[in-house]
Amino acid sequence: MPITKLPGKKFTLTKSNTSINARILDVLRSKSHTYISGEELSRELKMSRTAVWKHINALRYVGYRIEAITSVGYKLVSSPSLLLPLEIKNGLHTECIGQNIHWEYESDSTNTLALHLAEKNASEGTVVVSESQKHGRGRMGRDWISQPEAGIYLSVILRPNFVPMKAPCLTFISAIALVESLDRVFGLKARIKWPNDVMIGGKKVAGILTELRAEMERIHHVIIGIGINVNNTRFPRALNNHVTSLTLELNQKVSRLALVRALLESLEKWYFVTLRDHPERTFERWRELSGTLGRHVEVNVGNGIVKGIASRLGPSGSLYVQLDSGEEQEILAGDVTMIEKV
Ligand code: BTN
Repeated sequence: MPITKLPGKKFTLTKSNTSINARILDVLRSKSHTYISGEELSRELKMSRTAVWKHINALRYVGYRIEAITSVGYKLVSSPSLLLPLEIKNGLHTECIGQNIHWEYESDSTNTLALHLAEKNASEGTVVVSESQKHGRGRMGRDWISQPEAGIYLSVILRPNFVPMKAPCLTFISAIALVESLDRVFGLKARIKWPNDVMIGGKKVAGILTELRAEMERIHHVIIGIGINVNNTRFPRALNNHVTSLTLELNQKVSRLALVRALLESLEKWYFVTLRDHPERTFERWRELSGTLGRHVEVNVGNGIVKGIASRLGPSGSLYVQLDSGEEQEILAGDVTMIEKV
């Protein structure tokens, strides 16, 4: 049964099942050219043949095609294209981010779910991912369109040991990680539009929503929510000239899994750089990948428009715009429109 037809469209793999299922898949993949008998599987996994059968059925339920021939054995024919923890972890090289993954077919919003899990002490680096969101949230109270299985919708829980003032750095590391992973996996040259939109050819391909719970002196947790348009082929008409997807850029359907892994790896690399007290390196990398600095911009700051040249970043991630008068104006939040394309 295809996953999209699952009753209630909601399915959660428990943590304990995840590791057993991962082991079953490892064994099946290690002998993908042949059938493995139930007896051999039960010996390798140190569990009864009935237990093996139950796990095989659970894997089939989430979309793995596993052939079974009586008196011969099992063979893995294909894997689902879902962002299942088992699949993300297979070949993920991180120490912390993504070591614990919570997956749901449909969530309200992965950021809301991550906030809830963080309140319940979910470990640092926990990733919450879902195939669709009913109420995906964007910056400044906007919605984030979350078509099922088309995009990547994920949130990462971090517990950095630094003062809330430094939190904007975390938005920067996510934008850097997005640009680096798009280049690494697809050779796509994306650029960052302040503060955290990722653009290709002047159109938005990914966005970041960073939310935190903190006191004056201490951050409890930060949720980094990342949405990427991957295999979307259509957008609402009003957005058509402003957004794009990887499939539209590359003219082909692409795999989301490799991108998620590369993204988590790059995110961890820059998180560690920032934690180990090198935020200046993060700022420097952001500037290198910026499509905003040095450009003529119009910034909608809510109660008006600021026009000028985006001149530099402030120490807490604000944007300075040089006005026609030569004066500089600091902008803490707003929507940037580039006068020339990125
Ligand atoms: C923006 O550019 O406005 C930010 C968009 C952030 C969308 C992502 S999708 C995963 C996570 N969950 C949400 O509800 N929002 C973020």
